Amino acid sequence: MTRVSVATLYESGHFLKISEHIQTDINRAPRAPVPGLQISDLTLDDMDAIFILNESIFGEERVINTFDRKDLVLLLASIDEEPIGFKVGYRENRFVFYSAKGGVSPSFRRRGIALALMDAMMDRARDRGYARLAFDTFPNLHPGMTILGIQEGFRLMKADYNATYREYRLRFEKRLTPLPDQS
Ligand SMILES: CC(C)(COP(=O)(O)OP(=O)(O)OC[C@H]1O[C@@H](n2cnc3c(N)ncnc32)[C@H](O)[C@@H]1OP(=O)(O)O)[C@@H](O)C(=O)NCCC(=O)NCCS
Repeated sequence: MTRVSVATLYESGHFLKISEHIQTDINRAPRAPVPGLQISDLTLDDMDAIFILNESIFGEERVINTFDRKDLVLLLASIDEEPIGFKVGYRENRFVFYSAKGGVSPSFRRRGIALALMDAMMDRARDRGYARLAFDTFPNLHPGMTILGIQEGFRLMKADYNATYREYRLRFEKRLTPLPDQS
């Protein structure tokens, strides 16, 4: 079997062919707002709420391996000033913004908070000029995120086994901008 690296695909322009199949969200109808929901951008100096939520949702201190990332975005969702969800993302490469981790407190789930965080993350990535948003997820551990991704028009780009988590992992991507006119 011939192995072709992602870099080679990018350089050869094949990524455009792959990308053609990834749906874009820019024509999506606006969503009804979640009553009282506020989404704010935090800084590294003021992100305690994310550490607390991360620990309570995922049961671990580590949010992501390092915050030393280009275009780091730290989003906090609150209702009546109570932190209820978060999402962290950063630059993966010049085309792709990577949504690294996020979660919503159990008692606030299925109200559209994760969707609102995803919309906000896509806005931040689009504003910074990225063409696609990507995330990885473990469907056996957190099935909701896989269902959310598929329903929101993300395309499955990769499936593998992660030895650290001893679990299968899926990678989803969605376009943020229209493809350049190739006619
Ligand atoms: C996954 C998670 C972020 C979803 O948060 P949420 O605020 O409940 O999600 P939303 O209300 O925005 O869900 C939007 C849609 O996604 C789908 N969805 C979300 N969670 C789901 C679940 N547990 N089961 C089935 N579908 C689900 C549904 O289609 C839902 O729409 P609906 O409620 O109208 O049916 C939340 O369950 C969570 O924090 N889980 C633990 C951590 C986690 O999985 N993080 C992501 C790791 S990659």
